[in-house]
Amino acid sequence: MTIRGRHLLGIEHLGPDEINSILDLADDYARLNRSRSKRSTALASLTQINMFFENSTRTQASFEIAGKRLGADVMNMSMQASSIKKGETLVDTALTLNAMHPDLLIVRHPHSGAVDLLAQKVNCAVLNAGDGKHEHPTQALLDALTIRRAKGRLHRLNIAICGDISHSRVARSNIMLLGKMENRIRLIGPPTLMPSQISEFGVEVYDDMNEGLKDVDVVMMLRLQKERMDGGFIPSEREFYHRYGLDAEKLALAKDDAIVMHPGPMNRGVEIDGTLADDINRSVIQEQVEMGVAVRMAAMDLLARNLKNSRAETGVMV
Ligand code: NCD
Repeated sequence: MTIRGRHLLGIEHLGPDEINSILDLADDYARLNRSRSKRSTALASLTQINMFFENSTRTQASFEIAGKRLGADVMNMSMQASSIKKGETLVDTALTLNAMHPDLLIVRHPHSGAVDLLAQKVNCAVLNAGDGKHEHPTQALLDALTIRRAKGRLHRLNIAICGDISHSRVARSNIMLLGKMENRIRLIGPPTLMPSQISEFGVEVYDDMNEGLKDVDVVMMLRLQKERMDGGFIPSEREFYHRYGLDAEKLALAKDDAIVMHPGPMNRGVEIDGTLADDINRSVIQEQVEMGVAVRMAAMDLLARNLKNSRAETGVMV
């Protein structure tokens, strides 16, 4: 089980073998997380810093829990209270932290490309926890693990990704990952929420849920990313829910055993019916959260192995 390189910046850079390595190890960690002790020493003596320049509940909490279960010293930087507020640039903040010799930096930032830039300036492993509209690799990996466990495979599935595609890093990373694993992907949403270069994605595009959901195995709903919108992309939330919100009636068009996913945070009654989201026979939303911890443990473990190997080879801190 290995992945190449020092960082995890996006699904774009991963091959199917590396994706399988992360998911296989994450399956082991999912088992550990259900056991009584929940402890490993994979990150013992390593320092992990979480830098979240954008709000987060699930992702930040799961990276923190993942690091602690693996024995790392974990520090959460409060970016609201940091010198960024005093005008310090992202790169200066990164260099300051770098001088404290962290081993793993977990970064979320509102600007696409900011995490890649930061990774070029530091000596440790950087994990992208979401950059703007660009990528959210650990979300796509945890979604993949959830699908693989529910469906018994991660290929030749019909998967619908629905709603606000154009502002969603979750959609981008998922389209790449699920495409690399040879699934058929349908994007469903209003034309105003579809990215302009959609034809390059190798997907089918629908603006009608009733057509797009027919016979799919997986229905992945997305939140309307209002913080990334600067105008009227939808007539009203009510109208959006009517046409694109997932409820039992629309789900009936999918396969009988189709699963319902959402990365959270979800807006009940905007993109998904609350009762459906809580229906444990159809919704795997809580499993997604559970797999989030396991996938982040696996990704950090594999990157820490690379870090240790390169340090052993060069005999210096890299
Ligand atoms: C997603 C994100 O931040 O991109 N949430 C998450 O990581 N669980 C999706 C979202 O904010 O809608």
